[in-house]
Amino acid sequence: MKKVGIIGVGEYLPEKVLTNADLEKMVDTSDEWITTRTGIKKRHLAAKGQATSDLAIRAAKAALEDAGLKPEDIDLIIVATITADMPFPSVASIVQNALSARNAAAFDVSAACAGFVYALSIARQFISQGTYKHALVIGAEKLSSVTDWKDRNTCVLFGDGAGACVLGETKSGGIISTYLGCDGSNLGLLNIPAGGSRLPASHETVDNRMHYIKMQGNELFKIAVKTMTEAAQIVLKQAGLSFKDVDMVVPHQANSRIIMAVAKKLGLTEDKIYLNIDRCGNMSSASTVTALVEAVKEGKIKKGDRVLLDCFGAGLVWGACVIEW
Ligand code: UT7
Repeated sequence: MKKVGIIGVGEYLPEKVLTNADLEKMVDTSDEWITTRTGIKKRHLAAKGQATSDLAIRAAKAALEDAGLKPEDIDLIIVATITADMPFPSVASIVQNALSARNAAAFDVSAACAGFVYALSIARQFISQGTYKHALVIGAEKLSSVTDWKDRNTCVLFGDGAGACVLGETKSGGIISTYLGCDGSNLGLLNIPAGGSRLPASHETVDNRMHYIKMQGNELFKIAVKTMTEAAQIVLKQAGLSFKDVDMVVPHQANSRIIMAVAKKLGLTEDKIYLNIDRCGNMSSASTVTALVEAVKEGKIKKGDRVLLDCFGAGLVWGACVIEW
């Protein structure tokens, strides 16, 4: 089995920014409520006509440049997303074409906020077995396209963006351990009810606003804290490491209170946790990867550091990963 590491990173956040003050003019909310309950101050929104693949392509190009590779060096493209441009084909196919990555197989992964860690785990397997040499793993979302801008319970939470990593063989370190899980019994807590084969789009589904994200936040909050705590413990145990060995935790960015509750349970101090939720909101599949990319670019993750990724989301699904940078 080959060691597999992240050899290039990139991100793209759309130019348009929506602040809490902007939201105060749209729904019955306040900057104070959003900040204290979620930690979010602003989020990026894709422009009209800009699709998830457009964000993914920009992030992918940045990651390729960072890795010093050409599109034809990539054998595999995986895009984690729940807001594909269309039901099919995949965003990954659109990215493959836009990059002219003619040697790459390409597919999407749907695992919501844990999507990036799911995609990372899959790509790692292919490279460690020697099937592929270089993989592009992207988390990209245009959640603004499925956000109900009249629902204050949800519209203050989400944002758009994309992050990408290039994976390849490494001599030392790399991805040490991954842990994925699912509990489908609670899928009603967070979903988009219509638009699939169960409830195809109809006048009725549109009139009933069933193409937007529905969430029972309170219930999810408790499950998120418990699940992310356990996932972090399990993946570290698998890696033969303890929390003292971790230099930086990059969690899914759904709510800063969730993250701090997990940190408290695990005995982690704030300086070991990277957050971008204040300026990006919750970007589902794109959250963990953009936070990882930013932490690297800001020098908060350095060569030799041990990084813990810890995610939870709709499904319900979860994923954790330990990487030696
Ligand atoms: O991405 C992965 C999965 N997602 C999550 O894990 C998200 C988990 N959940 C959360 O982050 C939080 O539950 C929320 C941020 C969604 C909500 O925070 P909360 O502290 O759980 O609030 P709540 O839902 O219990 O609502 C408290 C009150 C309610 O008013 P009443 O019924 O107490 O009078 C809501 O109507 O806050 C009200 N409220 C708001 N008030 C002002 C809900 N949204 C807003 C808002 N502005 N935007």
